[in-house]
Amino acid sequence: MSNGIPKHVAIIMDGNGRWATRQGKKRTEGHYAGYKRLKKTALYILSKGVKYLSVFAFSTENFKRSEEEVSYLMNLFVKAFKSDKNFFVKNDIKVVFSGRDKPLSDEVLNVMDEIEKSTENCKKGVFNFCINYGGQSEMVDAAKKLAEDYKNNNIDLDKIDTEEFYKYLYNDLPPVDLMIRTSGEIRISNFMLYSIAYAELYFTETCFPDFDEKEFDKALESYQHRNITKGSIK
Ligand code: FPP
Repeated sequence: MSNGIPKHVAIIMDGNGRWATRQGKKRTEGHYAGYKRLKKTALYILSKGVKYLSVFAFSTENFKRSEEEVSYLMNLFVKAFKSDKNFFVKNDIKVVFSGRDKPLSDEVLNVMDEIEKSTENCKKGVFNFCINYGGQSEMVDAAKKLAEDYKNNNIDLDKIDTEEFYKYLYNDLPPVDLMIRTSGEIRISNFMLYSIAYAELYFTETCFPDFDEKEFDKALESYQHRNITKGSIK
């Protein structure tokens, strides 16, 4: 029996650096190739009927990388979110961001804000970019928001259950059905910890810049043939 199309797919886009180094290129060229790949593969994923796509573009830990690499990625975010605004509007994709603001620069935060506003009425799919993101921090921040609501008498604690808790995450998105990690690492690395509780996990040796339509089809096929027993410990 086939499981159909996952509603929410999440991708840990790993292996840009190795992809570049293997070809004698600079690591930053790998990130650029990853960005180009992301645009193509994301459109394909949404064309398959996936409604929500989350990608790990920058973790809170990524700030520990070299200054050159961090500033390259920050500049890439600024350029890409400026120049791709029409791409998202034309393709009817709503863009949202998950992560903490600090220590992102105002320049980065402003372009993020702008693209969110320009695409807020788009309907075909939702693209969630996780930038300066950590899964544990997301849960801590959610707990703080909840505590604040409680302090202001805005909630009845008896009504807070695991479903209701999603509303306190950075974005109110459905649970992840399929989580993909590229480049052969078999770890979750603090990605969407609350939302992947029952996700099917798919790991591939392929580095992200090579994760094309055919590679996604393989992940989808694997998902469709899994015996999914949500809520069971089988
Ligand atoms: C991990 O691979 C990847 C990242 C830290 C960055 C991912 C970013 C992109 C794909 C660009 C996205 C662009 C936009 C505009 C959202 P790695 O560099 O750690 O790979 P390695 O493990 O081989 O070193």
